[in-house]
This record gives sequence, structure tokens and C-alpha cells, in this order.
Amino acid sequence: MKIAVFGAGTMGSGIAQVFAGKGHTVLLYASSTASAQRHKDKLAASLNKRVAKGKMAQEAADDLMSRVLVEEFEAAADADLVIECVAENMAVKKELLGRLDALCKDEAIFASNTSSLSITEMGQGLKHHLIGMHFFNPVPAMKLVEVIAGGNTPAELVDYIKNLSTEIGKTPVVVNEAPGFVVNKILIPYCNEGVCVLQEGVASAEDIDIAMQLGCNHPMGPLHLGDLIGWDVVLNIMDVLFNETHDSKYRANVLIRKMVRAGKLGIKSGEGFFKYTK
Ligand code: 3HC
Repeated sequence: MKIAVFGAGTMGSGIAQVFAGKGHTVLLYASSTASAQRHKDKLAASLNKRVAKGKMAQEAADDLMSRVLVEEFEAAADADLVIECVAENMAVKKELLGRLDALCKDEAIFASNTSSLSITEMGQGLKHHLIGMHFFNPVPAMKLVEVIAGGNTPAELVDYIKNLSTEIGKTPVVVNEAPGFVVNKILIPYCNEGVCVLQEGVASAEDIDIAMQLGCNHPMGPLHLGDLIGWDVVLNIMDVLFNETHDSKYRANVLIRKMVRAGKLGIKSGEGFFKYTK
């Protein structure tokens, strides 16, 4: 199968890794071919680290990377599946999908890795069918895929994406369209609440995370988790949840807004509530 992944950041690169690891050909796209190539090089470097640690055979890493291709936009014309993971902005996603709608073969399936936006709205006006295929960070490690049916997504397509998710080693759950779907509707307010607890002076950042890790057996606490997701992403999802529902329980803590404005986005910027060295 040929899969075109648009957006080569953390999620797009992880999705490319998973599909290429299962023998599919992946076209990796970013804002330019030079940028896509840089992301491809980063992916190769992360696989090489796994090889060095003895977690992956060199041959398997080389084999996987040989299936990740950087091509011009037009090469997506014969893709069987297009997955968009570009910025969480409806206008940006719609503009890209509109261009792909004109380019791609009729049988191509369009999927969005949106973390909270409406699949129905995103798919409006497209002749290709659109479905939500929501992966979790870090994609190679996280088993879940939320399969989201928009208002116009055919039932057969839901079944097809469920089966495909299983085939690539993930466990699918079918979710009806709702802001944040299942995981982010619960998880993102949880990260926000971690920040509220910090802001109220209940405990230090370190102790909040230790409390949730050891008290609930979570792999990481809410502040480290937000650092992993990126506070810009957390803020964006909180704003979508709030704007769609007007429920005050989804109001983003002002400290998150301040962190984002200061560029303290988490692991990707080197600093969030904790500091990270490369
Ligand atoms: N490639 C392949 N496998 C990888 C990988 C990679 N780049 N990174 C991690 N893994 C896998 C491996 O299978 C590894 O097992 P191995 O040792 O056999 O290779 C396993 O993950 C564990 O990795 P590590 O030993 O490096 O790290 P930890 O044991 O500390 O676990 C973690 C790291 C998986 C991130 C764990 O802390 C965790 O599960 N944290 C919670 C993550 C979470 O909740 N994510 C969801 C965020 S919400 C989201 O994504 C939605 C979005 O819309 C916002």
C-alpha cells in the first residue's frame, strides 16, 4: 500500500515509522521537500539509536528507511491512503485536503490525525471520504488508534480503517464525533488540572508528577505528560473543548497560555515545567 503522510513532525514521523515498519511505502511530506528530508534524517537517526541500544537490527532499520520516501507533492496522486497530521487548524487542514482532493485518485482514502477537530466539518465539500485516524504520542509505542466517523463517513470505511489499524499492530476503538473524542476529552483536562494544582501551590511540579505516577500507577505525571504532548497542543485542544461546549470545566489555565507565549512548550523546545537536554 502507498501511504502519503502530510506533516512530518512528531506524529507524522511516528506514523511513517509504523507503516513503513509493516512493509508499506510511505511518502513523507512537510512544508518543503528540504524540510521533509530533514525529518526523514531525524527518523533515521532515532532508529540508529535503537540499533545502537540493541533494540533493533541494522538491517530492519535500513529496510524500514528504504520505504520512507521524500517526493514532490504530485507523487501523492496514486497514494492509496492519505493521512494528514498538519497544524491543528481547520483552515490549514481544509486547504491541504482541498488540494489533495483534486490530485488524488478516486479510490484514495483520506484520514486525519486531528486531536480534537470536527471530521464532519473537515470533510465537507470533498469528493473523497474522510475519516479520523487518531494516533498517540509516541506513535511507535502507543497501542491505541481512535477511529472517528464524521457525519458523512461510510460504515465500510470505519471497518476498513479498524482492520488496517489492527494490521499495523494497533488496537482501534470506534468513536463518535465529539470535541476531543475519548482520550483527549479526558486526558487534556487532566493535564490542565495538574497545572491548576501547581498554580494553587498545592505541591511542587516534581511532587505533583510523583504523586500521580506512584499514586495511580501512571507512566508519567500530568506535567511531564504535557511536556511530552507540547503545551501549545494542550492549549489548542483545551480551547477547542471550551469553544465547542462553553463549559467552564474546559477553561485553559492562564499559566499554560503564559508558558506557550514564552515558548516553553515542553520537550520539543527544551523546557516546559521541566528542563530537557537533547
Ligand atoms: N520507536 C519504536 N518503539 C519505541 C519508540 C520509538 N521511537 N519509543 C518508544 N518505543 C517503545 C518501545 O517498544 C519501548 O520498548 P523496548 O524497550 O522494548 O524498545 C517502549 O516504547 C518503552 O520505551 P522507553 O523504554 O524508551 O521509555 P519508557 O518505558 O520510559 O516509556 C513512554 C516511555 C512510552 C512515553 C511512557 O512514559 C508512556 O507511556 N507515557 C505516557 C504517554 C501518553 O500518555 N501518551 C499519550 C499522549 S496524548 C496524545 O498523544 C494525543 C494527542 O492528540 C495529544
